[in-house]
Amino acid sequence: MTAVPPPQGLALRISITDRCQLRCRYCLPAHGIPLCDRDQLLTYEEITALVACLQDEFGLCKVRITGGEPLVRPDIERLIGMLAELDVPDLALTTNGARLAPMAAVLKQAGLERVNISLDSLSPDVFHWLTRGGDLRATLAGVYAALTHDLRPVKLNTVVIRGINDAELPQLVAFAIRNACEIRLIELMPIGPGADFYPDGFMSSAAVRRSLSAHFVLNPARPSYGSSARLYQVTDADGRRGTVGFISSCSDPFCGGCNRLRVTADGRLIGCLARNGGISVREMLRTGDRAALCEAVRAVLGAKRRGRLFAQGMAMASIGG
Ligand code: 5AD
Ligand code: SF4
Repeated sequence: MTAVPPPQGLALRISITDRCQLRCRYCLPAHGIPLCDRDQLLTYEEITALVACLQDEFGLCKVRITGGEPLVRPDIERLIGMLAELDVPDLALTTNGARLAPMAAVLKQAGLERVNISLDSLSPDVFHWLTRGGDLRATLAGVYAALTHDLRPVKLNTVVIRGINDAELPQLVAFAIRNACEIRLIELMPIGPGADFYPDGFMSSAAVRRSLSAHFVLNPARPSYGSSARLYQVTDADGRRGTVGFISSCSDPFCGGCNRLRVTADGRLIGCLARNGGISVREMLRTGDRAALCEAVRAVLGAKRRGRLFAQGMAMASIGG
């Protein structure tokens, strides 16, 4: 396989709220989770200061805004505009799509480059059940609006649950091909309420590929360093092509090239989902203590398992120190 060069810099994921208007059964309990106080949230100014600092000190290859559901936080286009002004590379957003349709134009105009949209079913009833009340039409309107306003490549995220949506995966892949979206089929993780579906609901990526191969020809595509998805070219019976990504967090975790750094809505830095804790940088941002902030980032990156960034980060630290 061809060697793919490591990406330069961090892939940053910033949660801007822990709230969501949906309650997907694998993600949240019916009554929701305890939410952080609003005054604990990083302000848009603090987020921007953090991103500017990380860009200067460590370099960035990607900035993704997430949640909860990021589009429920007011004036998100203001944050997008502030980040776009920093000229960060690859400014993306992960959303459930429910509020995207009326916002896509303004987000694009503010400088958002692309979106990932959660779409677990094309059946209105299954979608409604799985999201505990979501309206499939609103999310599909969000997908179409993203395409219309060129928030591309539009990626669809589908968490695969055996017995719930596995039978309609061929339709979901066909939908993605038809609409020039990339679909990413995600293994269910036993995190929180996701564990309630175990073991029966779990379906490995290998099993999903086997089942899809009855409908499509699948060919592995170029490996993408640091990406959590393994990409396949799929071709349907009529010769139409698309790309399917498999995210195999359980059967084949992808730690080697991980260059990810997460920031929670209340300002904790997390280097690895498989490790608990993290370091809060909220007060450092509020007092403008840049040296402490850099030290916290290095500590969090140093706690990653064995990614290359660990070595790079340490080298940078020792050169600087
Ligand atoms: N397993 C896999 N993915 C999950 N997500 C949330 N909970 C789980 C889980 N238990 C991810 C999905 C969803 C995104 C918002 O969070 O990818 O699309
Ligand atoms: Fe969780 Fe996303 Fe579903 Fe909201 S839309 S409940 S954040 S998976």
